[in-house]
Amino acid sequence: KSKVCCDIAMFGALGDLAQRKLFPALYQLDRADLLPPETRVLALGHQDSDTDRVRKRLAVKLIEHVAPDELSEAVVDRLLARIEYVRLDFASPEGYGRIREWREGATVPLMVYMATPPALYGDIGGNLRQAGCIEPSTRVVVEKPIGHDLESSRVINDELAAVFEESQLFRIDHYLGKETVQNLIALRFANNLFATQWNQDHISHVEITVAERVGIEGRWGYFDKAGQLRDMVQNHLLQLLCLIAMDPPADLSADSIRDEKLKVLKALRPITRDLVDSHLVRGQYTEGSCGGQPVPGYLEEDGAAAGSKTETFVAIKAEINNWRWAGVPFYMRTGKRLQDKLSQIIIHFKPAPHYIFDPDQAHLANNRLIIRLQPDEGMSLQILTKDQGLDKGMRLRQGPLELSFSEAFDKARIPDAYERLLWEVMKNNQYLFVRRDEVEAAWRWADQVIATWQDHGGLPKRYAAGTWGPMAAIAMIARDGRSWYEDG
Ligand code: BG6
Repeated sequence: KSKVCCDIAMFGALGDLAQRKLFPALYQLDRADLLPPETRVLALGHQDSDTDRVRKRLAVKLIEHVAPDELSEAVVDRLLARIEYVRLDFASPEGYGRIREWREGATVPLMVYMATPPALYGDIGGNLRQAGCIEPSTRVVVEKPIGHDLESSRVINDELAAVFEESQLFRIDHYLGKETVQNLIALRFANNLFATQWNQDHISHVEITVAERVGIEGRWGYFDKAGQLRDMVQNHLLQLLCLIAMDPPADLSADSIRDEKLKVLKALRPITRDLVDSHLVRGQYTEGSCGGQPVPGYLEEDGAAAGSKTETFVAIKAEINNWRWAGVPFYMRTGKRLQDKLSQIIIHFKPAPHYIFDPDQAHLANNRLIIRLQPDEGMSLQILTKDQGLDKGMRLRQGPLELSFSEAFDKARIPDAYERLLWEVMKNNQYLFVRRDEVEAAWRWADQVIATWQDHGGLPKRYAAGTWGPMAAIAMIARDGRSWYEDG
């Protein structure tokens, strides 16, 4: 196995993201034998604790977040032995000398993971530089949200740029680490079958659904200022849209891929005032039942302020103003407290130019490609065949050509997004990370959408928790004579 090695300085090591995602991901990399013995982790937090206590706490968290059949005591011990804890006030330069001491004599590159609020990125970068911890080989991983809008994202990006080169910066969008999302690149650019069909001549419309069952999980304070459009659309859904819509890159290098994604973002049609009713739906959940459990409405969540107009659901009919996609709507929807956790992309192909079968079955005649991000990662191509049986004549039957990744690959475990992303950082490969100009182009469009609905959009539509969102989202697509995939 190829081995790459980094020292990892993890800021916010006792926070939720680190404990729930990052350490379990490091555990899996260690278990897969991808962390060389000399890999070390410096866990940094502002809490008063010590290495021993932090290791014990992490052991508990690993047991909680790693599947029981993947848990090995030997690997847990090996990972914990790599970890040292240092208490640090991130905003103050004092104490950063401890990081330099820890790096004394190190020959491997440093990975700085900022699992902290973005307001601290500038301070952390500046303090690291002042303490002499930054080298050309240093890489820095930052989490979303990169700002609240274009302007604030520029401030954060400027602060980072004051210390680091763009080639050192790894902006995480964890959707880019999902197995199926990467498979989109393989599907599109390794299969000529699709390459020739992937445009407005053959595709009628595209659906992107990212439905969540969870509510806002105790994050009311953050979420209420953000809303679902900033939290999910500006980043995850637009990244998915880019991967579906981009032109073929010349190669797999980070910049070739990101150049093509950027062109898509720049070609997104603004949602102007005249489109607000036909292209945009905002929703907010009320009490209901999710997975058989009664759940409160958004305004009754812990910490909620009365009368919030923040959206927990968005449906947008996006359009891309270029030759490839003219006239092909991309219907996107995402929401909290929906009926199921389900992320999928559906490519709806146009019907054959001339239809010769039973007119009653004409509605079946559109091929669909269903790309399942979660759960049951895989793809399914809906095609028409002849039904079996003498009495059926030429009746058509719709059936899938099915590829379930877990079955196709012998039930091999599908790595979590963070495992792959951390591994790519170690390899110093930026192709699954978002470049500054992409973040900014995505904000430019999102800001414009938000401004339009603030001025002309009215109140969010109510939907009961545990449903597929407000009726208005169904009406939006129905006006074009279509329906969301689960709705038949
Ligand atoms: C995060 C959002 O980026 O993505 C959360 O901040 C959301 O609100 C999460 O729940 C969804 O990620 P996943 O991988 O569970 O689909």
